[in-house]
Amino acid sequence: MSCIWQDVELPAGFRLDFRETTGSTNDDVREAARAGAPAGLVVVAGRQQSGRGRRGAAWVCPPGEGLAFSVLLRLTEPKALWPRLSLAAGLAVAEGLDRHGVAAEVKWPNDVWINGKKIAGILVEAGEDFVVVGIGINVGVTEFPQALEDSATSLALECGEAPELPLVLASMLERLPVWQAKIGADFDELLRRFRERCALTGERVRLTAADGVLVGEAAGIGDGGELLVRTSEGIRRIVQAEEVRVVES
Ligand code: BTN
Repeated sequence: MSCIWQDVELPAGFRLDFRETTGSTNDDVREAARAGAPAGLVVVAGRQQSGRGRRGAAWVCPPGEGLAFSVLLRLTEPKALWPRLSLAAGLAVAEGLDRHGVAAEVKWPNDVWINGKKIAGILVEAGEDFVVVGIGINVGVTEFPQALEDSATSLALECGEAPELPLVLASMLERLPVWQAKIGADFDELLRRFRERCALTGERVRLTAADGVLVGEAAGIGDGGELLVRTSEGIRRIVQAEEVRVVES
């Protein structure tokens, strides 16, 4: 598979490091960051042996059918603003996917959905002076394990054909700096676009917050990027949550 990555030119500011097989591209980028690698390193894996998602879940995708990559960022914004990168990355992935003929939505905090099904997941991990943005996208997958059949989708399933992986990567990387630049002063603009694409707004959701399980109506995204949930006791502002599920009303 490495041949499709030979001579690939990434958008300005990014450098490709393709690894046929690795553990997790997030770990590879973290290791490089600690060794002093500059921002813009992009590690792409043909196969990840211990790809991971949020909440300790595994991220598994058949080789050649998914795009698994991690990007090294070094930010000048205060660390308190770094969590906003989750929203920025979600938008970048959704906009990148749109270029391949779909209408992608963001599912707070940073999954990407098409027609109510997950097509991409994002794992943002911060180090001392860097951030790793890891992204997994179902590109050519046409069959998912039974447990995911109703909740996962891919570009191949949505468009009838799968674009080449380097093209998908380039479309994400073109959008990432645009939204990364807006986690500080222009956060309002980022929020506006995130709200327009938010898959949860108006849906009945169930999530586990710090103080327990919460069920209510997703009422939108607050000014700090938090999920607003309307319950019988009023609006709750959710900054962090275990998986947010859409449930029947
Ligand atoms: C999630 O949906 O929970 C996030 C999934 C993130 C998966 C990607 S694949 C590339 C990078 N390397 C990893 O080990 N994880 C991320």
